[in-house]
Amino acid sequence: MKTVLAVCLGIAALAGAVEAQADPILIKFSHVVAEDTPKGKGALLFKQLVEERLGDQVQVEVFHNSSLYGDAEELAALRDNKVQLLAPSLAKFETYTRQLRVFDLPFLFDGLDAVDRFQKRAKGRQLLYSMEQHDILGLAYWHNGMKQLSATRPLRLPEDAAGLNFRIQQSEVLETQFNQVGALTTRLAFSKVFDALASGQVQGAENPWSNVYSQRFHEVQPYITESNHGVLDYMLVTNARFWYSIPHRIRTQLEAIIDEVSYAVNREAARLNALDRQRVAESGHSQIISLSPREREAWRVAMEPVWRHFEADIGPDVLRAARASNLREE
Ligand code: LMR
Repeated sequence: MKTVLAVCLGIAALAGAVEAQADPILIKFSHVVAEDTPKGKGALLFKQLVEERLGDQVQVEVFHNSSLYGDAEELAALRDNKVQLLAPSLAKFETYTRQLRVFDLPFLFDGLDAVDRFQKRAKGRQLLYSMEQHDILGLAYWHNGMKQLSATRPLRLPEDAAGLNFRIQQSEVLETQFNQVGALTTRLAFSKVFDALASGQVQGAENPWSNVYSQRFHEVQPYITESNHGVLDYMLVTNARFWYSIPHRIRTQLEAIIDEVSYAVNREAARLNALDRQRVAESGHSQIISLSPREREAWRVAMEPVWRHFEADIGPDVLRAARASNLREE
C-alpha cells in the first residue's frame, strides 16, 4: 500500500513538473543494433512520426549500435530515467522477471506467427506489466525473427555442437539450452560479439538473419545452420514513472504512434530477415546448412528438457498459453 502511495505521489510530482515546463519532452531511445534492422527501422519511424505529429511538444533522439548504452547498462539507465525508451531482446530482462524466460525456450514456438499470436493474447499481454514494480513498463512487442545457429564447423546434429563455446545473451535459459548439447557458453554484450567470433574467443552464436548480416557475423562464421530453434524478439520498454508523468493527451498520441510503429515493424521483420538471409547466401562467406526433418527433430529432442527446468519460473499457465499459440484457434 505504502509503495502504491509513494509511486502515485512520485508520478503526481513528475506530472506537475512536466506540465509546468514549456520545453519539449525529450525521449532518448537507445538500442544496440544497426539502423537497417527491424528494431533500428522501428526506432527511426517512431522518431519520424513523433516529429511530424508532436514536433513542438516531444523530441526524440535515437542512438543505435550501443552508441549511448550497451547491454550491460541500458536497463539501469532506463530506471534512472537517463534514457526513456529501449527495446532489449526478451532474453535481457532476467534480473527483473523470470516469466519472460518463456520466449527463450528452444523449439517452443513453431514460427513468428505463433509468437505473434502469443504476444497478442491475454497471457502475452500481461507480461508487458511483469516488471512494473521495478519501474519498467512494457509498451509493445517488436519482432526480429527466429534464431539460426552459426559456428566454425557444420552443425547438423546436436552432438556436432559438443565442446564448442557459444556466445549467449544474459540468459540462464540459453546457457542451459547449449549445455544440453554438451556446448559451453560465454555471456557477452552484443557489441562484443563480432570481435569475440573473429578472435576465436567463442566459436559459435545464435542470431536472426538481420543481426547476422548487419553485424557481419557471417564473415567470421563459416557455417550457419538454419535451425529456427528459438525466437529473438523485443519488448519496447519505458520508465513507468516517466511515462505516467507525460500529460495524458500527449501520452495517448505517443501510444497511438507506438501502435502504428509496432504494426509496421512486425509486418516488415520477416521480409527483412528473408532479405538478409539472401544477402548472407550471396556473400559467399558462410555455407548455409538446411536441416532435414529428422535432424531438426534430434535438436528438438535434445533441448526439450530445458522446458521442464524453467516451467516453475515461467508459470505453467504462461507456458501452456505459449504452447497453445502454435494453434491458430485458442
Ligand atoms: C543480442 O544480444 O544478440 C540481441 O539481443 C541484440 C538485439 O538487440 O537484437
